[in-house]
This record gives sequence, structure tokens and C-alpha cells, in this order.
Amino acid sequence: MAFSPAFLDELRTRLSLASVIGRKVRLTRKGREHMGLCPFHNEKSPSFTVNEDKGFYHCFGCGAHGDVITFEMQSLHLSFPEAVEKLAAEAGLEVPVQAPEERERARRAASLYDAMEAACAFYEKELRGPGGHAGLDYLRRRGLDEATIARFRLGFSPDSRTALKTRLKQAGVSEAQGIEAGLLKRPEGGGDSFDLFRGRVMFPITDRRGRVIAFGARTLGDGQPKYLNSPDTPLFHKGAVLYGLALAREPAAEAGHFIVCEGYMDVIALHRAGFPQAVAPLGTALTEAQIELMWGMVAEPILCLDGDAAGQRAAARAAERALSVLKPGRSLRFACLPAPEDPDSLLKARGPAAMRAVLDEAEPLSAMLWRTRFATQPQDTPEQRQGLEHEIRRFFEIIPDEGLRKDYAYDFVQRARDAVRQRRQSRPYSGGGAPRPARFGAPFQPPRARAYTQRDPQGRVLIPLRHNPEPPSPWAQAERLLLLGFLAHPPLRDEVAERLGSVAFADSALDNLRQEVLKHHDGWGGLDFKGVQRQLRTCGFSQILDRLLNATALVPAAFARPDAPLDEARAGWEELFRLYMRKELTADLVEAERALAADLTPDRAERLSALVRAKDEDRDG
Ligand code: UTP
Ligand code: MN
Repeated sequence: MAFSPAFLDELRTRLSLASVIGRKVRLTRKGREHMGLCPFHNEKSPSFTVNEDKGFYHCFGCGAHGDVITFEMQSLHLSFPEAVEKLAAEAGLEVPVQAPEERERARRAASLYDAMEAACAFYEKELRGPGGHAGLDYLRRRGLDEATIARFRLGFSPDSRTALKTRLKQAGVSEAQGIEAGLLKRPEGGGDSFDLFRGRVMFPITDRRGRVIAFGARTLGDGQPKYLNSPDTPLFHKGAVLYGLALAREPAAEAGHFIVCEGYMDVIALHRAGFPQAVAPLGTALTEAQIELMWGMVAEPILCLDGDAAGQRAAARAAERALSVLKPGRSLRFACLPAPEDPDSLLKARGPAAMRAVLDEAEPLSAMLWRTRFATQPQDTPEQRQGLEHEIRRFFEIIPDEGLRKDYAYDFVQRARDAVRQRRQSRPYSGGGAPRPARFGAPFQPPRARAYTQRDPQGRVLIPLRHNPEPPSPWAQAERLLLLGFLAHPPLRDEVAERLGSVAFADSALDNLRQEVLKHHDGWGGLDFKGVQRQLRTCGFSQILDRLLNATALVPAAFARPDAPLDEARAGWEELFRLYMRKELTADLVEAERALAADLTPDRAERLSALVRAKDEDRDG
């Protein structure tokens, strides 16, 4: 929806920026400004300022900057229209709707929301009433406690054709609205409408703001269908909704991923077991719209599908759909449950640690595609090898982004050739005759450290590289070492946390880790490097940790090693940080130049010249 500039101005003037921000941040007045600890990065002394007169906030530490609307968007993870609507309601402003048809549509939608809400409240009450015993018993048997039932607003639909219909009438919802909302149904051959859901446990499905827009309804016994779902309505488009999203969005933003599972009960069980970032599609394969919805909030949702054949097929379908909308910086990972478990049953049988282990093993999209589609193809003859390369190129044509498309094709062709090379090394070509081992049936192994020693120009031993090394840029390397030094030396942590909190790393995965460790290191006490690693691995940072540990191979920076003496570590860290602060300027400059070349806009040009000035001053000073 487009909001008029006049309306947005009105909204900004009506609201006090300091009081909106004051709900999240303790502000103290300093002259014309307010100051506080920045909510967008970890810091110990305030560098976050709020200028009420000008209507913006600015953080001198991390550069966060914006007005009352962007503040709500960033701090509550809302979209622009959502933030505007929320603030308008608080300011007592009606969001203007321009065209009459639009106003009518908004009015009708509003009444459908009311109908869904009335139904949801009714089902909740029924669950706890005399007619709801069977439903409540069922949920209890499945291990749900009262708090969980209330949080997911589970309910029960009485076994009656008119109970809800009567209730809706009392609530002022017309029969036509009840039908439009998918709550009532008219018989095919004509006649009175009746309740669609009868004698079932009700799972309300909400939009991302938590408004009820549909229901999933489970039979108590073996009746068919097991789950009856609301039809598509003006509020509910099955392929664009994820069950549990309203509850999962904040935890997901914090964790950096969603867990996508298959069923309602899985979402609820995961939530209860300490994985509130769980969502599920509604009985269909994950759609492009659902993938993009999640990509708006996190970079890499983890698909956690049942270990059975159906689950594997669903994974393959999701992978192909993801390719058709793939963007730089966005992807999926795939976690595989041991058959025949689903998350609900796995948690029950083996607890959260088993689930955590499954998530830690999640495979990147690329590895999963290689393993399932290509690794097993024969490459015994030139024809087969060229056939495979063709197939690879054709397969990735679906990727809309050119860079990614080429990268995938190139990478997979290399994998195919590596596989051939590896096989030849392990078993010299014998001129035929002898049966070959079924190497290509073996599952794909991620590249591992090779067992040979590399030395730097001074002859110092480097920790072995992964095969296929891409040396990181010096400043990316500095980021890794700064983080590593921080993690490896408990006494150093308190001393340098503030400085580590004052920068943002260019590598976004690494920056997530940086933010995570800054958030939690206070609670670690003197936990040593091993302990810290274990802690981070259980929070889903295994992959990036592995990268971190691996990359240290490239520079013999002794200070970052856990066995370095503390004063050496401190001196090394501080020197590197000093260099890094200058580097960062250079990096910004490179980035700004690239953006400028791609798309010259006045504010980019302005940013570039500001950076050039800053760099010159830095050099002069
Ligand atoms: P499952 O059959 O795996 O059920 O369907 P479940 O989630 O494990 O349910 P419980 O544990 O037996 O209660 C997975 C999802 O597929 C959709 C639902 O969204 C369900 O959660 N589904 C399944 C339907 O929509 N209709 C059905 O008849 C069955
Ligand atoms: Mn189940």
C-alpha cells in the first residue's frame, strides 16, 4: 500500500521519537539530544543519539540511522507498511485509504478478520468446556502443557453442524461472511450452510502479525482427512503463509535461521523444546513465495524434512524452487532426520540435543544438490562425462541471477572433474577388465583438509588448507583473527569487547557470530576456547566456526592461538585492530566505488566523496 507523503509527515510529527525509542532504550538528555546504548549493536558506553527536533536517530558506533518508522522496522522486524500501521494506531491516526474500492476491500477484510478471531476464541473456549474433554485429553496425551496450548491458541470444534454458526451470528458475523471466511459451508445441492469443522482439534493459522486467517483441524481418531484445512479465502493464500511465523520471526532473526518442518505438531514441539524459530508450510511443498518470505528475514532457512522418501522428495522440490528465485547472499540448508522420525517424535524419543545435532549437520543447498542429483552419475566414458557437464549447465539455467548461475555451473563441473581425478588417483586406470569400485555411489564428502604440509615464504608450517583454497582478502582475514583472538583468550575478552562492538564486519556470517559472542560473553565467565566452541556449536554456529578455524591456516598469526601468552595475544590483537580500523576505511571505499559504478545516484556519489575525504584525512593525520 502506498502512503501519501503528507500522511507520513503527519505521523512523524505526531509521535515523539524519543518516547518511541525510550520504550527500548534508556535515554538520557544531553542538550538538544538524547543519548543511550545503541540497540543495534553491543556497546558499553553510549554512542546512540536521538535528535527529537530533526526526527532522526544516529549511532556513531555502528552507523544505524533513521526515523521513527525505520526504528520500529529494525527493532521489531516489521515491514514498512506494518510499522506505519502500528505507529498510526498508537498516534490515533487513521491510515488513509485512497480509492473507494480499496476502502471497501479493507472494510471487508477487517470484518473477515473479526469473524476468524471470533471463531478462534470460540474454539479455545470449547476446548476447556464440557464438550472439549476429548480434544484436551488428546493434546495432553501428545505432551502439550497448558501454556503451549494457550500460546498456539489451540481449540476444539464441537461435533455439531450449527454451534459455530450460532456463535458467529451472536458476534455480528453474517452468514455470507462466515462462508467467505471458510468457516461455514453451503451443501453442494443447496440448503442451509453448516460448520465446516466438527469434532476436531483446531490449530489456528495466523498471518505474520498474529491475526488468525485460517485453521488446520485434526481428527482425533483415524478419520480422513487427518487434517482438514481452511480453503483459500481473501485472507488466506495457502502457498504464501507459514504456520507459526508470527511467533518465529523474532527468534529467527536472532538465531539467523528458520527451521522449516512439515507439520503443525512439529512446529509446536520444536517451540516447546527451545527452538521457537520453527515454521511449517501447510501440507504442501515449500513454495517460492514462502522461501522469499523467509529470505526477507534471514539468509539461510534450514529445511528439516522427515527422513522418509516423501521427505527427501519434498527436499528436492524445495531445492529446485529455491534455485528459481535464488539471490546472492540467500540460500537454504537441509537437515535430515533419521527415518522414520519427524521433529516431534525425535524430540520425544531423544530430546533437544538430538535435534540440535541434526541441525548442526545441515548441509548447504549446493552440497545437497550435488549429493542427490549429480554425485551418483556415471563418468566412465568421455560421452558420459560430457553428458554430465551438459546436464549440469542445463540444470542451473533456472537460476535468474547471472553470477550465481555461472558460479553454480562452474563449481559443479569442477566437482565432477575432481571426482574423476580422485578416482584415477586412487585406482590407476588398468585398461579395463577389472570391475570398478562403486565410488560414484558414495555420498558426497565435503572437501576436507588434505594431508600435506604447506609452508609460508619463511618456511613456517601452515595448517593444511582445504582443497580449492580461495585466500581471503587481508581485511577479511583480519576480521577472522580479531574474532578468534577474542574467543581464544578469556582474559582478553572483557578488555576488547567494546572495540569489537564498535565495528561491523564485512563478512555477514562472521558478523553474525561477532554479534552473538558479544551478546553472550558476559555469561561465559572464564570458559576456555574449547568450551566456547561447544557453546557456539550448540547455538548453530558450527559452519562459520569451522570456517573461522580453517581460515587461520592462511596467516601464521601466533597471537590468536589459544596457547599464546596473554600479553602477546593482547599486543597482537591491539595492533591488528589498529590496522583493521584503517583497512575498514579502504574496504568501505572499495564497496562504495563498486556500488557507484553499478548505479550512480546522488547519495552514493556523496557517500563516496565523504569516504575519500575521510581516507585523506586519515592519511594526513
Ligand atoms: P503428517 O501426516 O506428517 O502429520 O502431515 P503430522 O504433522 O506428523 O501430524 P500428527 O503428528 O500425526 O498429528 C504433515 C502436515 O501435512 C498437512 C498438515 O499441515 C500436517 O501438519 N496435512 C497432513 C494436511 O494438510 N492434511 C492431511 O490430511 C495430512
Ligand atoms: Mn507427527
